[in-house]
Amino acid sequence: MPKERYLITSALPYANGPIHIGHLAGAYLPADIYARYCRLQDRETLYICGSDEHGVPITIKAEKEGVAPQEIVDEYHTRNKKAFEAFGIHFDNYSRTSLDIHHKTAQDFFTKLYEEGVFKKKTEEQLYDENKQMFLPDRYVMGECPRCSYEEAYGDQCEQCGASLSPMELINPKSALTGSTPVVKKTTHWYLPLGDLQDELEDWILPKNDEWKSNVYAQVKGWLEQKLSDRAVTRDLSWGVKVPLEEAKDKVLYVWFDAPIGYISSTKEWAEQQGDPDLWKKYWQSKDTHLIHFIGKDNIVFHCLIFPAMLMAHGDYVLPENVPANEFLNLKGLKFSTSRNIAVWLDDYLEEFPPDPLRYALASTLPELRDTDFSWEDFQSRNNNELADIVGNFINRALQFAHKYFDGKVPEPGEAGEMENDLVQALKNAGKEIGESFDKFRFRDGVRAFMMAGKAANKYFNDKEPWKTRKDDIRDCATAIYYSIQTAKALAVYMYPIMPFSAERIWKMLNLDSSVEEQKWERAAVFTIEPGHVLNDPEILFEKYDDDVIQKQIEKLQSRIVEPAEEEDMDYTPPPVKEEISFDDFQDLDLRVALVKEAAAIPKADKLLKLQIDLGSETRQIVAGIAKRFDPGELVGRRIIVVANLAPATLMGEKSEGMLLAAEGDDQFGLLTVPDDLPTGSPIR
Ligand code: 2FM
Ligand code: ZN
Repeated sequence: MPKERYLITSALPYANGPIHIGHLAGAYLPADIYARYCRLQDRETLYICGSDEHGVPITIKAEKEGVAPQEIVDEYHTRNKKAFEAFGIHFDNYSRTSLDIHHKTAQDFFTKLYEEGVFKKKTEEQLYDENKQMFLPDRYVMGECPRCSYEEAYGDQCEQCGASLSPMELINPKSALTGSTPVVKKTTHWYLPLGDLQDELEDWILPKNDEWKSNVYAQVKGWLEQKLSDRAVTRDLSWGVKVPLEEAKDKVLYVWFDAPIGYISSTKEWAEQQGDPDLWKKYWQSKDTHLIHFIGKDNIVFHCLIFPAMLMAHGDYVLPENVPANEFLNLKGLKFSTSRNIAVWLDDYLEEFPPDPLRYALASTLPELRDTDFSWEDFQSRNNNELADIVGNFINRALQFAHKYFDGKVPEPGEAGEMENDLVQALKNAGKEIGESFDKFRFRDGVRAFMMAGKAANKYFNDKEPWKTRKDDIRDCATAIYYSIQTAKALAVYMYPIMPFSAERIWKMLNLDSSVEEQKWERAAVFTIEPGHVLNDPEILFEKYDDDVIQKQIEKLQSRIVEPAEEEDMDYTPPPVKEEISFDDFQDLDLRVALVKEAAAIPKADKLLKLQIDLGSETRQIVAGIAKRFDPGELVGRRIIVVANLAPATLMGEKSEGMLLAAEGDDQFGLLTVPDDLPTGSPIR
């Protein structure tokens, strides 16, 4: 049977800054775990990435620093490539979009669509900076968000509410280059008519309800319900891929047109490196390729609608099978910010710690369905209490025992008893559970199942008490060590996708041939190490980190966080407290924890969103006046608080059975929420 073919991509990071752990948790670590797992499953696997070297984020940084954009991308491409490698993110190719091969691939793609008559050519008004004599697309212009009033929204997106914007929508726009108020001027661009492709996109996406993650599916459905509109794919800029049209010599392709084509050009570059330049076609142009895009939630529209629309319009390419986008990882509630230096930088981390503890800590808290928090305390506890105390401790004790009492060799076992049978069953179950979780892109569940296997191993060792049996039942002691050594091998295979460096170290300590990378998943729990096999010396697998080591990291981060000025709060005058109510009045309110399952706009009601909420015992629809504050997609997966016994009402023709709770300041607005582990339907008292 031919092998299943997997083409895995991670979002091409902009080469304008270093990689931080928020990036890793979004698009890189889950993809790397998945690619490593696919290889162990003997699937034909290609994992592709590269630097996104065009677009306004790059040129703005270059302008600020007074250097050429090429200088910026050269620096960060090299630096990020190195950091990924050191962290074990193992791409088959890490390309860059400033290469000729990419420019040509993107131009050919544009030309094909142009020749097929796909684009619409339109002349429209756009913002123009007269001082700089240039148009101000995307992030070249900032202003007030028309949705949430955030004053530093960009021309393409508001980072506060996530809304996708166009520069002309901004209130009080200002040039990001000169701070001046732009004028309006006409210019011509080529548009991808997404609206014309709406039906085709719906036919493709809507049946994916069960396969795609709910956070991704809901966001895409929200976009489709709002109806797709034409998107300009060219820009009046000089840095980028030149538009291959005589009449548009001074324009470049929109970065979001060329960047995803970067996946294809990176695969082409890889094929050339393999000495078979056409090999990329097998991946991109075979309908049976499983194409999986790993991204962060801010890239969903581009990967689930715009790029697939481009691929459909082109016609020669496979469409993504799944886009398991993650939500955001925050720093204890704070958003990562490259510009404000609020981040845990990968380079910095690697100077002080090995990769695997962070891979494990991040994989355990990936923002798979909702935003999650990273904290150094959690990192310490996972490293010390789980990796060192459970897995490391087990491996170390098993090997130490073999060295001390069996001459550094695998002993001949006695007969297997109940404990041995239970252990073997636990290992087999773990392989199945971890694999099934990874296949569903539920990496956290897979990591948990791995740690359960580690616990079962540790428990086996404790229950067997070999330190006692070595004195009075050496045969049973030998059985315990034989089984423990085989278990160490199984754990190495299961841990490999999550912690490849530690897995290979176990392999070396066990003195086994080749590497874990070469193993097969389904043979992980098969006992293949013969009695008499000579073992290498054990080493400590996971070093514990003391409080002072962790405190240093906490302080480093804290020193960069500037607390908001106190006056801001003091300016606020809260409304007077309402009339007193009795305790019984309060008791009449039934407040519950609810999970937002779906969220969508309501046609012609620009302030309202309708939410499908899970109350544990039932699903209901509520209508909330939060459309100016939130995009539907960012609400899905959030745990909110609702008044569950409010009399139903009908708003704009939509039934509303409940009300959500929110806090509102002058400009500030926040949904009330509860910790993740509270089950839906929990009452609030
Ligand atoms: O958001 C980003 O960092 C983009 N550079 C991602 C691009 S993904 C792909 F399309 F290349
Ligand atoms: Zn906004």
